[in-house]
Amino acid sequence: MITMDDIIREGHPTLRAVAKEVSFPLSNEDKKLGEEMLTFLKNSQDPAVAEEYHLRGGVGLAAPQLDISKKIIVLHVPSNDEENPEPSLSMIMYNPKVLSHSVQEACLADGEGCLSVDRDVPGYVVRHSRISISYQDKEGQKHKIRLKNYEAMVVQHEIDHLNGIMFYDRINEEAPFAIDKDVEIIQ
Ligand code: NI
Repeated sequence: MITMDDIIREGHPTLRAVAKEVSFPLSNEDKKLGEEMLTFLKNSQDPAVAEEYHLRGGVGLAAPQLDISKKIIVLHVPSNDEENPEPSLSMIMYNPKVLSHSVQEACLADGEGCLSVDRDVPGYVVRHSRISISYQDKEGQKHKIRLKNYEAMVVQHEIDHLNGIMFYDRINEEAPFAIDKDVEIIQ
């Protein structure tokens, strides 16, 4: 199983590289990798498992964070609706790509964190508030989906990892909480 020991931290060159496209038909290795990455996120959100294996909770993970420079990301965003406990987004995406995005920008009120960054970096990370993306599933089938708000922020954070971009690259260094007044702040 994937643990924190498998995750590389900031300063590692792989986190600054542009990841390679995954080719299809998918190798067993790449298929297994996607599944194990998603299991990691689920484990990290399970209090008992997370405690036993010292996992930091995460909602997204990108293959480069495991020192594997391939375009693979996984998302597991828990539901915030008590009536519906299903996760709001739980997916393995191969070759994800932003096709288009809103002009409207947004950021998370509490800033962002990353499993590859062992420190708090305060500040607003300004992103597109809505995106349209394409990706391939494990069968190679192409999908297009639209995401907004929190889910859109998480996916943009993970796709950034495929392009060697860290969340703090998007924080205004001089004034981390200075943003245009039309940027939406997501609570
Ligand atoms: Ni990250």
